[in-house]
Amino acid sequence: MAAAVAASQISRATVVGKTSSTISKSINAQNAIRRTNNSILEPGQTVVIPRWWTGRYDAVCDPARFLVDGQGKITKADLHANSDLGQELQHKYNDVGLVHVHNTGLTNMADQRTLARILMGEETEYEGGANPRGRAADLGNVYDIGAPLEAALAYHHEVTYKSHSVESLGFLCKHAVQRDQVGWSFVSDSVQAHDYIMTTPLGQKLKEKGLCFVRRMTDATSERDIGALDHDNPSLTVYNHWQQSWMTNDPEEAEAAAHKQGLLVEWVPQVGGGHMMQTRYYKSAFEYVPGLDRNIMATSIADDGEWFDSWPGIKDVPQELRPLEMYFGDDTPFTLEEKQAWTDAYDMFGIPLPWQAGDVAVLCNLRYAHGRPGIHLLPGEQRELGVMLGSFFERQETKEGKW
Ligand SMILES: [Fe+2]
Repeated sequence: MAAAVAASQISRATVVGKTSSTISKSINAQNAIRRTNNSILEPGQTVVIPRWWTGRYDAVCDPARFLVDGQGKITKADLHANSDLGQELQHKYNDVGLVHVHNTGLTNMADQRTLARILMGEETEYEGGANPRGRAADLGNVYDIGAPLEAALAYHHEVTYKSHSVESLGFLCKHAVQRDQVGWSFVSDSVQAHDYIMTTPLGQKLKEKGLCFVRRMTDATSERDIGALDHDNPSLTVYNHWQQSWMTNDPEEAEAAAHKQGLLVEWVPQVGGGHMMQTRYYKSAFEYVPGLDRNIMATSIADDGEWFDSWPGIKDVPQELRPLEMYFGDDTPFTLEEKQAWTDAYDMFGIPLPWQAGDVAVLCNLRYAHGRPGIHLLPGEQRELGVMLGSFFERQETKEGKW
């Protein structure tokens, strides 16, 4: 990995430019990616450490290109494409694929949604993904995040591992915490992260081998229900029973249905009786983005067991039993160092979204990954975001000659 580390320094210097601030930025990057004995891992490190960003708000993209100040006085008259606000939103979104409108003065999520729709157009019904999501009442297709607040959510694109995705994502902030960085979301510039990772052995390995996505579904007949983290709160159930997923109690029927979707199936004995259904699916780590006319990285360790590293109830479940796992496309495992390097690639290009109530952020789902550290509230604090999913598209994976 020594070559990767050297490449990281070169790439970083190229990105930030050779100005007087390069040195301090370089130090930040080095702090973000500490290394010992030519390893990017900390001494004794056993899990992936996310760092989210380098600590400089303007290091990845000039904030003037994506920030919009509503000056506390956005009205309904501003909430259309031809208003000055609408024009500014579209100009900035077309430029960098990201807009964060702060200081909106909006107190109604329905108005925030209208604002986001200037950029997002048609919304998509939520059909799948890693977490179950409840619909916000009276808000059309605005969803809850669908994960426990205390769980860190690794950088990811809202791309299902099989064939579907959405063009854009909208976040509407209803309640925010004004204490340090508590409750901030982060986005990572995937174009820069891609360009960096392709200078490393990991990027080349991902390109050459592709990925294998493993999914595990529990057996409803098992006496030990490892899927139920909290019986009073079904939204915290992170496993699906295979009987539920395939709507049958017959394993042969379930297997046939999975084969139809291109999944390979294995049955793994489950503690408490019965068998877990384990499926494998093979796919590129990259996706062609028409607006950029190039392939970029569209996957992260969010599809691996690490997704649950800080989830209450499941963080103590061994990796090999977690609902998600990922291998290279030749079924070889990732090393911890490779997982850390992949995480670092996103963290190097992270941009924070420090929330205030009323804020709206819209991002291109392929140009940016999104994520957040775990959130631990103090009594009296609230942090609540609604999520909107933009137009649906079919993944086309990569195109020859577009690297
Ligand atoms: Fe997400």
